[in-house]
Amino acid sequence: EKEGYAHFMMKEINEQPRGVYETLHRRLDKEDNIVLDGIKITKEDLDKINKVYIVACGTAYHAGLVGKYAIEKFAKIPVDVEVASEFRYRDPFVDENTLFIAVSQSGETLDTLAALREAKRKGARILSVVNVVGSSVARESDDVFYTWAGPEIAVASTKAYTTQLISMYLLSLHMAMTKGTLTEEQYKAYIKELKEMPDKIQAILDDHETIQQLADEQFNNENVFYIGRGLDVTVAYEGSLKLKEISYIHSEAIAAGELKHGTIALIEEGRLVVALATQDKLYDKMLSNIQEVRARGAYVIGVAKKGNKEIEKSADKVIYIPDTLDELTPILSVIPLQILAYYIAVARGCDVDKPKNLAKSVTVE
Ligand code: M6R
Repeated sequence: EKEGYAHFMMKEINEQPRGVYETLHRRLDKEDNIVLDGIKITKEDLDKINKVYIVACGTAYHAGLVGKYAIEKFAKIPVDVEVASEFRYRDPFVDENTLFIAVSQSGETLDTLAALREAKRKGARILSVVNVVGSSVARESDDVFYTWAGPEIAVASTKAYTTQLISMYLLSLHMAMTKGTLTEEQYKAYIKELKEMPDKIQAILDDHETIQQLADEQFNNENVFYIGRGLDVTVAYEGSLKLKEISYIHSEAIAAGELKHGTIALIEEGRLVVALATQDKLYDKMLSNIQEVRARGAYVIGVAKKGNKEIEKSADKVIYIPDTLDELTPILSVIPLQILAYYIAVARGCDVDKPKNLAKSVTVE
């Protein structure tokens, strides 16, 4: 059932245009209004909500980081994102004016479920973004947003992440339009761009050989750093996690501005740095960060939007993603990082779909 692919992970990477399409189009009516069947939050409910917590583990947590950005920017509600295993043990400030959003592919992750129950006990409204229909997290929530990724078999999450991103954008745009914090024109521009995502993801997938070549050159590197600013940091975390879990290479992701506060001490000759530079207003800052690490001997793979060629002067290699609005770049920029991690793991002879010590669904503490 791998349909000709060597691994489920590659099959699932390639299923992303479809998953994104389904997750998006099932929520848009003919006039492109967002219709959320499983969500009953009214304008009145929303006006009461003064705090949002997004709680999740691993990749789902990384999608939550993008959710924070989108909800704060579009709907103007303060958001905290936290890993479930921390949230559940720290007596967080939650009351009946809190919206708790759980994000989980499986809907069975024990820590996420326990955090959800704790928030519910304290009176929060519970909304979940889940892939598996009828799973525990979905059943115990007031409102459910199902991602339409289809079954995800590989331990490394790929299509669940991109569909979670779509969910985050749709939820935040829906909240914004209900609250009146975005204009119709702004809304239309985001929806128009979201609708182009399946084709833009496909364009990156079609060019996978370029990334495979980079992987074949770099697979022996034992220390890989992912850097970015703004939304790019959240994608850096996800790219780094992908690499660690399937290739067993030590990797770390940090905000590029934090480099000089410590981590740059580890950058030396031959280190691989993947530098995301997709955010227009942070582009120049990222170019300086790239120059900093290169000056210490790092080999830099840059990720930038097509047309932003300036980066070629600083990075050793550049992977271009199709142009899009800055707020939406994670949907595209994660794709080359998934492909890079995949081919590096394959080149190292790793069992990509079933990495050692990892389970698909973590139902124990
Ligand atoms: O099923 P969940 O989304 O709740 O799972 C959360 C994490 O266990 C999961 O994303 C994990 O980090 C993946 N192996 C990442 O690729």
